[in-house]
Amino acid sequence: MLTVAVLISGTGSNLRALLEAARHPDFPARVVVVGADREADGLAHAEEFGIPSFTVPWHLHESREHWGEEVGRQLDVWKPDLVVLSGLMRLLPPSLVAAYSPRLINTHPAYLPEFPGAHGVRDALAAGAAETGASVIVVDDGVDTGPILAQERVPIVEGDTEHTLHERIKPVERRLLIDVVRRIATGELALSSAS
Ligand code: GAR
Repeated sequence: MLTVAVLISGTGSNLRALLEAARHPDFPARVVVVGADREADGLAHAEEFGIPSFTVPWHLHESREHWGEEVGRQLDVWKPDLVVLSGLMRLLPPSLVAAYSPRLINTHPAYLPEFPGAHGVRDALAAGAAETGASVIVVDDGVDTGPILAQERVPIVEGDTEHTLHERIKPVERRLLIDVVRRIATGELALSSAS
């Protein structure tokens, strides 16, 4: 059984979808811990599913390195086989990436390498693109530059706002994420820094 840690910053709707998938006896992975960089609303999903959680508040640390060291210490308690960044809106320091990558994956609401960074949905709209997408990647030291594990196109429709477009992307992200975690767990998808 693949053990998974999930790191979040926000509402954790993708985390919730993974928790729901993972409670099926046939699913080959289990979420063992959820972590956040703030008192994220999504931590409530962990509580509801009886999954332990931790918070390492970003603002209480003097540098990315120090924050990352504490996140690493928390993760090491659980020794997860895989770490999923699911809406964690922080870049991890290189030391933490080195410790976990390529067993460190990220969901992103755009068709990478298009529209990387913190505002993937807003940037696609601002560019006047006709379509965007969702991606699941291995985390490396760049900003959304790691090897792509799965991705799918999502059309942008007339009148889309950042909210409506993001809400249409998220179900695609969830499906891709659950499938990637399943394929990693079964060995169908081998992770390497050049996956
Ligand atoms: C997701 O769309 C995720 O891809 C995105 O934040 C959202 C979190 O939603 N992450 C990034 O943009 C990272 N660059 P959720 O909290 O409802 O799961």
